[in-house]
Amino acid sequence: MEDRITISHQPYTPLPDGDNGPLLPISPATQNGPRRSLKFVHVLSGILAVGLIIGMKFLFSSSDGRAVDKSTTSPENLVEVEPRGVSEGVSMKSFRRPLLGMEPPADFPWNSNVLSWQRTSFHFQPPKNWMNGGGMCLLMFFRCLSCPLYYKGWYHLFYQYNPDGAIWGKKIVWGHAASRDLIHWDNLPVAMVTDKWYDVNGVWTGSATILPDGQIVMLYTGSTNESVQVQNLAYPADPSDPLLIEWVKYPNNPVLVPPPGIDFKDFRDPTTAWLSPEGTWRLIIGSKLNRTGISLVYDTVDFKKFTLLDGLLHAVHGTGMWECVDFYPISKVGENGLDTSINGLGVKHVMKASLDDDRNDYYALGTYDPVSTIWVPDNPKMDVGIGLRYDYGIYYASKTFYDSNKKRRVLWSWIKETDSEISDIKKGWASVQGIPRTILFDHKTGSNLLQWPVEEVNKLRSNKTVFENLEINVGAVVPLEIGLGSQLDITAEFEVDKESLERVQASNEVYDCKNSMGAAGRGALGPFGLLILADKKLSEQTPVYFYITKGSDGDLKTFFCADHSRSSEATDVDKEIYGSIVPVLRGEKLTVRILVDHSIVESFSQGGRTCITSRVYPTKAIYTNAKVFLFNNATEARITASLNIWQMNAAQRHSHYTNLIM
Ligand SMILES: *[C@@H]1O[C@H](CO)[C@@H](O)[C@H](O)[C@H]1NC(C)=O
Ligand SMILES: *[C@@H]1O[C@H](CO)[C@@H](O)[C@H](O)[C@H]1NC(C)=O
Ligand SMILES: *[C@@H]1O[C@H](CO)[C@@H](O)[C@H](O)[C@H]1NC(C)=O
Ligand SMILES: *[C@@H]1O[C@H](CO)[C@@H](O)[C@H](O)[C@H]1NC(C)=O
Repeated sequence: MEDRITISHQPYTPLPDGDNGPLLPISPATQNGPRRSLKFVHVLSGILAVGLIIGMKFLFSSSDGRAVDKSTTSPENLVEVEPRGVSEGVSMKSFRRPLLGMEPPADFPWNSNVLSWQRTSFHFQPPKNWMNGGGMCLLMFFRCLSCPLYYKGWYHLFYQYNPDGAIWGKKIVWGHAASRDLIHWDNLPVAMVTDKWYDVNGVWTGSATILPDGQIVMLYTGSTNESVQVQNLAYPADPSDPLLIEWVKYPNNPVLVPPPGIDFKDFRDPTTAWLSPEGTWRLIIGSKLNRTGISLVYDTVDFKKFTLLDGLLHAVHGTGMWECVDFYPISKVGENGLDTSINGLGVKHVMKASLDDDRNDYYALGTYDPVSTIWVPDNPKMDVGIGLRYDYGIYYASKTFYDSNKKRRVLWSWIKETDSEISDIKKGWASVQGIPRTILFDHKTGSNLLQWPVEEVNKLRSNKTVFENLEINVGAVVPLEIGLGSQLDITAEFEVDKESLERVQASNEVYDCKNSMGAAGRGALGPFGLLILADKKLSEQTPVYFYITKGSDGDLKTFFCADHSRSSEATDVDKEIYGSIVPVLRGEKLTVRILVDHSIVESFSQGGRTCITSRVYPTKAIYTNAKVFLFNNATEARITASLNIWQMNAAQRHSHYTNLIM
């Protein structure tokens, strides 16, 4: 790595070389100093190596793919003129990106009654907080979820948050909420604001590491006065405060600046650190080299000085910038989650990246060698960014943490809006948080994770209605009398009659959810499932369904999809069809769980093998008109369905802390 290219301009101040600030002492992991950098190992693919040699001209490709030679430009000219977006450190609203800065005109007369319905009742959202006259509102804009953690009996959520307006602003700060059960949240004062030169353009994503003695160290990405992405250190001002209200920034920030060869806008989202065999703390940061997504590895003893290790934990060609990387162990045998430093027999490692290019969260299972610091995917064809996704709907910038309280690993995610920005401004909020999901290795398939809503959400269930062995004939639509349909927890089991499974001709049908006409595309063995948020006349409906194909070899394949094409009569909302294949093992019934919470619907098939998060904006199927139906649009198969449907109570969001906000 002697031939690392160098960047000619130096937009940041040099790293401080001592800890002369009034920082509480951070106990080193061991008495050993940081180990020497690893020798350059074979991690870099040929392409990468070429990328390194070819030089910076290509490393500075702009967001539209044009190569821009920024080396000759002065730093001032580097400031992007785009109003918001990746370079600005927010997850840009990628649906219907305005053309030439213009929004398409809203064709539907959205009124406050329709818009108010969209606000969720048991998903986390920051409080709506209109201020007098100025029309100030609060908005949650995650990049990655800044930092989930469990401390002294409280779960903490720090989120990327714009206190200034209904669309993205320059001053993204850390919103803060705490909960005892991941469901009922207390809103707390903003934890960190953009008050230093090294984060004046945004206090972006970070991760906490809880040291063995209980100390919390927080690393977060700041965007400097020159829009350079740097990593900063922060810590709680009063570690005895379980609510962690006050935060202190380390006076000698930044602690990490982009290394040579890395664009200063491609260096963000440090992970939680884990212990290396040498006893140092090790963490990764996402980046890219040309079109190759990469994870840089750093070692540290005190979280103030870092050593960049040679080589990369992992890289995948063609996947672009890796945001919000996550790296954690998962048990091949047990039912518990694992703390981030655990490794050994019976442990696999999950590598996850949020792809800036397509705005989806990808993961892969593999093996981590802590000595070479290399992670290898189990199946190279299903590598990070080209294989499995956490979720096939709207789900981005997620992150896990280890919950020492319940010995589980919990996944959180940012769920953006898929309506128009005009509507977001009218309703005064944007984005929600997905229900936290417990993550487990799927022992049965051995090739994927299982994601399941944390058990605490079950406490909101009430008024259960049971339907047993309902027969749904070919072409039928069956209403389910369950009362109101906007806040539900549904579990359903489907069986396809054996006779038709055998009778149906094998074919070479190629199915994919996105391009197969959704619930209206009829085949012999599908689609069948539920219509969510549907009005009585079915003028609006969101089908969540299975579709089975029988290959020419006689093998069955099952797909799990959600169709938004008829979810709203308004046209300025997303109408896509999402989904993917779901593994179904011999003897298994088809199962689905669906959490309905107004404009968000989270669907989990086969115990969480394939998941789809939907944002839906009905105009008629709301309030008392929101209903649920079963449907079977297969042409051959008769279906038997059994369901439990609960009404869901609202989560409490108010507390004596609420009045502390702003
Ligand atoms: C970088 O990407 C561009 C566009 O995809 C490609 O033309 C170029 O060859 C790549 N450079 C390297 C070094 O891989
Ligand atoms: C950014 O802040 C640093 C540190 O205070 C300073 O040296 C530098 O001149 C500033 N750059 C600009 C463009 O203001
Ligand atoms: C409870 O469920 C029944 C149908 O099983 C429904 O008629 C009733 O309205 C529901 N009650 C509430 C409070 O939702
Ligand atoms: C079933 O398919 C027909 C024909 O494509 C379509 O008109 C109908 O809306 C579909 N039913 C549902 C519930 O989507």
